[in-house]
Amino acid sequence: MEITVSNIEHVNGTLVLPINKGDEHITDDRLGGVARSLRNQIELIVSSGDATGKKGEVITLHAADGKAAIIGMGKESERNEKTCRDAGAKFVGQYKKRHGVEFTIRFFGWSEAEMAAFAEGMILRDYKYDKYKSKGEDGEEDVSLKAILQCEESSVKALGKLVSTAAAVATGVHLARDLGNCPPNDLFPMAYAHNAVEWAKGKENVQVNIISFEEAKELGMGGLVGVGMGSDRKPCMVIFELNRTVAGPAPVIVGKGITFDTGGISIKPSPSMDEMKYDMHGSATVFGLIQALHATNHEGRVTIIACMAENMPDAGAQRPGDVITTYSGKTVEVLNTDAEGRLVLADGLWKAADYDPSYIIDLATLTGACVVALGHEASGLWSNNDDLLNNIKEAGEAVDEIAWPMPLFPAFEKEMKDSKIADLRNLGAGRWGGSNTAAAFLKQFVPSKGEGEDKEQIPWAHMDIAGTAWGAKSNACVAHGATGIHVRTLHRLITKQ
Ligand code: BES
Ligand code: MN
Ligand code: ZN
Repeated sequence: MEITVSNIEHVNGTLVLPINKGDEHITDDRLGGVARSLRNQIELIVSSGDATGKKGEVITLHAADGKAAIIGMGKESERNEKTCRDAGAKFVGQYKKRHGVEFTIRFFGWSEAEMAAFAEGMILRDYKYDKYKSKGEDGEEDVSLKAILQCEESSVKALGKLVSTAAAVATGVHLARDLGNCPPNDLFPMAYAHNAVEWAKGKENVQVNIISFEEAKELGMGGLVGVGMGSDRKPCMVIFELNRTVAGPAPVIVGKGITFDTGGISIKPSPSMDEMKYDMHGSATVFGLIQALHATNHEGRVTIIACMAENMPDAGAQRPGDVITTYSGKTVEVLNTDAEGRLVLADGLWKAADYDPSYIIDLATLTGACVVALGHEASGLWSNNDDLLNNIKEAGEAVDEIAWPMPLFPAFEKEMKDSKIADLRNLGAGRWGGSNTAAAFLKQFVPSKGEGEDKEQIPWAHMDIAGTAWGAKSNACVAHGATGIHVRTLHRLITKQ
């Protein structure tokens, strides 16, 4: 989608007019440059009360001299960035080709942030994953939408800036969705690594480093190796560095990248197993994030670590009962090979120490238990640091990607340390609180800073995106499939501090 911003002038293509519930007429200044017969129709349909302005209402008008779409925004007092973003998204979702491919959208009395949110919703929703469809099959040609946002002259410049940032960040969201939606026969660990190398080509302030299966074995990354060794398509760790020459501590973001999770020897039941192609969405989000940061010319240093493996049952696979030694040196009794995300993340979190982290955040489709707890409306959020937790929560709320605080009680850590033969077990003692025991397990692999008395764990947060990475019917910005969740949250967290 191509978006431009101007003051109120002539109308190109379809005029899009958001109205409030209870608007009784459209003032003349809103219809400047609108052809006569269309203008009369708009005035009539609003003053007659046929266009009610109720939330979600879209009325299209076809006059001999032009077209319009009147969008109901609900009560004016209830308008906020979220309602505007959702309205922009829904408009594009309902868009039919007969409406044309060019729109002129006129805002009155909206804040710059609200207008930008509407545009962001349009951009986010303007996405489809049709790489595997033969062209022309469904009779729909690809069209590229053109939108002109019109507002008061005094807002043109600021809105233009907000919209171009939103569009740049959305390239990261769409990249994350592309990775998430890619079928698992084509997106395997080394294919992700290959994508990363290709993506970094020609970008001077980006380095990509791949730790191969062989290297991971030599380094003692027993978590990554244990999970990935049962697949012909071997595991790897992919590390992206943005602005590596910038001095001082900086964020390190770690993603779970299980390109397919069969459960391994503790194999999963068949229904919906195909959805386990999304089990790499943590790694999709971190890739999308670095794209978003790069596209918005972020000048700070940021490191991304993607822990990539395919969890397969095979003669070479790890078994329930195996004891592995992780990169940290801690040993883990693998009681269930389906609790694999925490094993690859254990090594990724420990590796983060090499990049002088100001804080570490991991993202993972980690537990079904998190979906039981929060449904598809929020990601779970755990942290050893209240400031970090609050900053993530606020960033998530600002962009409408909710992350909800969950507890790290000492009892959960105790439960995970209770192996008879190793330092840790990868499975809780019972099934209750499964997302919390998983988080408590990860905490054992968060590196510390300082020596002796001053030794302290680095601020760390864990985001369980099992319920938000796909399947949220209430997410207006996504039609179906991978959501690209938290690219925008983390972009905001990292750039607005
Ligand atoms: N990738 C799954 C978690 C998952 C399940 C995400 C459903 C989204 C939807 C993870 O690797 C897993 O299998 N977790 C197990 C952990 C259990 C064995 C302790 C689970 O949640 O059942
Ligand atoms: Mn699993
Ligand atoms: Zn998994």
